[in-house]
Amino acid sequence: MIRPYDRDVSTSTWFQSPDDAATRLNAVGYLTDTPTATTAYLTGALEKPLLLEGPAGVGKTELAKAVARATDAELIRLQCYEGLDEARALYEWNYKKQLLRIQATDTSQDWEQTHDDIFTDEFLLTRPLLTAIRRTEPTVLLIDEVDKTDVEVEGLLLEILSDFQVTIPEMGTVSAVRKPFVILTSNASRELSEAVKRRCLYLHLDYPDAKREKEIVLSQVPGVSDKVAGQLVETIGRMRDLELKKSPSIAESVDWARTLVALQIGKLDDAAITRTLGVVLKHRSDQERAVRELKLGR
Ligand SMILES: Nc1ncnc2c1ncn2[C@@H]1O[C@H](COP(=O)(O)OP(=O)(O)OP(=O)(O)O)[C@@H](O)[C@H]1O
Ligand SMILES: [Mg+2]
Repeated sequence: MIRPYDRDVSTSTWFQSPDDAATRLNAVGYLTDTPTATTAYLTGALEKPLLLEGPAGVGKTELAKAVARATDAELIRLQCYEGLDEARALYEWNYKKQLLRIQATDTSQDWEQTHDDIFTDEFLLTRPLLTAIRRTEPTVLLIDEVDKTDVEVEGLLLEILSDFQVTIPEMGTVSAVRKPFVILTSNASRELSEAVKRRCLYLHLDYPDAKREKEIVLSQVPGVSDKVAGQLVETIGRMRDLELKKSPSIAESVDWARTLVALQIGKLDDAAITRTLGVVLKHRSDQERAVRELKLGR
C-alpha cells in the first residue's frame, strides 16, 4: 500500500526542484527569477494553490500557461468578471434535457425514481472548476483576475482551494482524483478575503530587472538587435520611475520591440521614441509627461 508520506517527490507531476522549475519554464519561453521558480516548485510540491498578485502585464497569466506547457498539462481557465456565478464557474443542470426526460418518462414511474434519473452526470453541464477537479490527467487550473469577481464568488472557491472538492447537493461531493496545479491571479484592485489568502501560497510579481527584461525581449522578438533591446529596456525603466497613470509593462516592452523591427528602426533615439510612443504609453497625459521629463526633443 502506498501511504501519502511514501510518495517519492522525484515522481511528482510538477517540478523536482526550484532549479528544475527555472530550467523547464525557461525552455518554454518563460524567464523566471529565483523567487518565482521557487514558488512554482513549491506550488506543485505542497499541492497548494498559488495567489499571484502584481501590476498589469508582468506575466501572471503567462506563468500559468508556461507551467502547463512545461509539464505537458492541460490548462483550464476560469476568467473572472463581475457577475460571475456558480452556474458559470462550477456547474449547471441541463434543465431542457431534464424536462425532456421527464416528459418522456412513463407516468407510472414514481417521483423518487425520476428524481434519481435526472440528477445524474448525463444532465450535468460542468464548468471550469468542476472540470478541473474531475480530470484524471495533469491539469493547471488558472483562476484569472479573481479580484474582478464579487466577494461572494470567493465563498465558492473556498471548498476547492482547501479540499479540492465540490459539493453538488443532488449528487454528493466530488473530490479531485488528481489535484490540479492551481494559480489565481489578481491585480489587487481590491483586497481578497483572508479566508482565500490563508489557503494559498502568495507571490508578488513585479517588473523584472533590466537584464531579465532584455532577455525576455530578445527571446520573444526575432530580429531585434541586442543594442536596441538594451536601449528600449533602459527607456522603459526610466518611464516606470515617472509618476504615470499606467506604467509600461513587459507586454509593452515586447510590443515596442516588435514595432521597432517592423519599422526597421535600428537606433532608439529621441525621434524614434516620440514616433512610437503610442505603443508604450496609452494615456495622453502619460505621453506628455514622458516627453517633458525624459526631455525628448519634439
Ligand atoms: N517572465 C516572462 N518571460 C517571458 N515573457 C513574459 C514574462 N513575463 C511576461 N511576459 C510577457 O508579457 C506578456 C504579458 O503577460 P501576462 O498577460 O501574463 O500579464 P498579466 O500579469 O497577466 O497582466 P494582466 O494583469 O493585465 O492580466 C506575456 O504575453 C508575455 O509575452
Ligand atoms: Mg493576466
